[in-house]
Amino acid sequence: MTDPAPSLGVYVHWPYCARICPYCDFNVYRDRGRAEEQAALVAAIGRDLQAQARLTGPRRLVSVFFGGGTPSLMPPQAVAEILGLARALWTPAEDLEVTLEANPTDAEAARFSAFAAAGVNRLSLGVQSLDDEALAFLGRDHDAAAARRALQIAARAFPRLSLDLIYARPGQTPAAWRAELAEALAYGPEHVSPYQLTIEPGTAFDRAVRRGRIIPPMDDMAAALFETTQATLSAAGFEAYEVSNHAQGAAARSRHNLVYWQGEDYVGVGPGAHGRIRRPDGRLATVAAARPADYIAKVDQTGVGFASQETLTGIEAAEERVLTGLRIEAGVGFEELTALGLSSDHRRVIELREAGLLTPDHLRLRATAAGRLVLDHVTRRLLV
Ligand SMILES: C[S@@+](CC[C@H](N)C(=O)[O-])C[C@H]1O[C@@H](n2cnc3c(N)ncnc32)[C@H](O)[C@@H]1O
Ligand code: SF4
Repeated sequence: MTDPAPSLGVYVHWPYCARICPYCDFNVYRDRGRAEEQAALVAAIGRDLQAQARLTGPRRLVSVFFGGGTPSLMPPQAVAEILGLARALWTPAEDLEVTLEANPTDAEAARFSAFAAAGVNRLSLGVQSLDDEALAFLGRDHDAAAARRALQIAARAFPRLSLDLIYARPGQTPAAWRAELAEALAYGPEHVSPYQLTIEPGTAFDRAVRRGRIIPPMDDMAAALFETTQATLSAAGFEAYEVSNHAQGAAARSRHNLVYWQGEDYVGVGPGAHGRIRRPDGRLATVAAARPADYIAKVDQTGVGFASQETLTGIEAAEERVLTGLRIEAGVGFEELTALGLSSDHRRVIELREAGLLTPDHLRLRATAAGRLVLDHVTRRLLV
């Protein structure tokens, strides 16, 4: 019997949003007045996929992820087209995961069933909060009532539902956060991604913090809110398979996240998307042009949307495996880290093991639960 083709994930970036949130530093652009550009973008994404299929060769397609930006603003027909193309270019796995990130406005929720009909089988809903004041603070264009309606519609339309929430907001108490999380869980998501509010450089929130208009929670309050998150979700039967990703059992884990953290290959299409493709001469790292117009022009000129592509050195590829692999419990096999000289009996590995931050596993480099909480420290020590 021949080996099955290696696995592949596809990431599709849809960079438009109805409104740009004051905390967000993703590659995003205002949606309004760009219908023509968007039609050209769908066509460019299709051409890019076809060209990249020649780079990957035959693969088993395990995940397609429509991320953003706000992919729930995409015409469902465009989602169907891109998905149809991906399914034709590679061999779809029987349990192919197709995720779409959605914002919970009424207009978008009205299209959930069309996205399901287009082949999306997992919705990642950006609820962020179920508190009106918090949603206004976050600059969102939905309120808690709209989020609740969207949750109900999504739970009916999709077999798999994941929720994004933002916590560690100024003034938030553990008791209020526990109640908010419990309410979100009542809608039956199989997966929850609670993110601590991060003040990203260059955002409106960054300027507000510097002017003293926003005061982020002190470290001990942020830690208490983190503890509340872990305890509430664990009591509800969710396992933290990564620090901000909780699933109700292994089957509910995001296959797409695992593509990244298990070091599998992925093709990135759409403005600013990243990709990693194993080639005979090493791992190819691709980054697409960030601005939609530049991306479309690149595809017109070269067939692919890459603004850059480079083959990682053995050391760079192994460093990346440490950074991504340690995020999940399974860690990364030492055989993938030979370029770094890291093995089970390496001095720094032993040191971190003795500090209780790495497990005593001799086949795989794995962080303990305590180690995963201080991953920056662990990876800095390993990659000096
Ligand atoms: C880039 S958004 C795309 C999804 C969708 N547009 C939305 O906002 O719901 C993906 C997720 O990143 C999280 N996020 C973005 N910026 C963040 C920040 N500064 N701090 C914490 N979470 C953030 C939000 O929870 C969001 O759902
Ligand atoms: S958080 Fe989501 S909706 Fe807000 S600007 Fe970023 S991608 Fe767009």
